[in-house]
Amino acid sequence: MEKHKRQIAVFGAGGHGKVVVDAIERNDGLAVACVVDDNPQPGSAVLGLVVVGGRDALLARRGDIDGVIVAIGDNRTRMEVAGWLGAQGFVLQRVVHPMAVVAPSATIGAGVLIMPGAVVNAEARIGANAIINTGAVVEHDCEVGEAAHVAPGAVLCGGACVGTCAFVGAGAVVLPGVKVGPAQLVKAGTVAARNVEQGN
Ligand SMILES: CC(C)(COP(=O)(O)OP(=O)(O)OC[C@H]1O[C@@H](n2cnc3c(N)ncnc32)[C@H](O)[C@@H]1OP(=O)(O)O)[C@@H](O)C(=O)NCCC(=O)NCCS
Repeated sequence: MEKHKRQIAVFGAGGHGKVVVDAIERNDGLAVACVVDDNPQPGSAVLGLVVVGGRDALLARRGDIDGVIVAIGDNRTRMEVAGWLGAQGFVLQRVVHPMAVVAPSATIGAGVLIMPGAVVNAEARIGANAIINTGAVVEHDCEVGEAAHVAPGAVLCGGACVGTCAFVGAGAVVLPGVKVGPAQLVKAGTVAARNVEQGN
């Protein structure tokens, strides 16, 4: 008998929704229950799954859903939607692609997405609804804040900190112990050698 798969709703039908659906479908224990979007386009689909509607459609299916992941790239919007879901009583589901490597001593928050080829090393802490994107490296003792995004190929060296809603661009490197403040940006392909705060 096939084991029960957790039924996961995906909130967000854009490009990011596509990779989230793919990551869920590759997990033995998870299945996509439905895809919803705040702006559902008539007849639209994500990897062959019809977008069933918006927040009302999600609420109507509540009984069939074990968890929800917010598949929206914009950090603030992802955090806002996750807040709404929590207030509605939905469980925020973390999704770890089977080709990611996550140390058992790492802490992974609710609603986090970890993509293929990413490495999250010993005692790293990943806050709720963060994205650790394809091939990113989060070294030992790093802290990634709530709804932050570590983009494809970026490297956080040991003990680096990334604040709430911060964005570390593709291929960027944050040197050991460096702090990226809340909502701050590290440009793609650059090196953050000093703390990144508002105005510097
Ligand atoms: C830093 C960033 C936000 C700048 O965006 P922007 O303000 O819209 O900048 P523009 O695209 O208008 O480019 C402005 C100039 O900066 C240059 N530039 C932009 N990003 C750059 C980067 N990361 N490194 C070096 N130069 C960059 C552009 O070539 C352009 O130069 P020009 O004026 O000589 O033509 C953006 O380029 C970036 O790094 N985004 C991260 C993207 C990413 O990692 N996405 C992952 C998604 S999964």
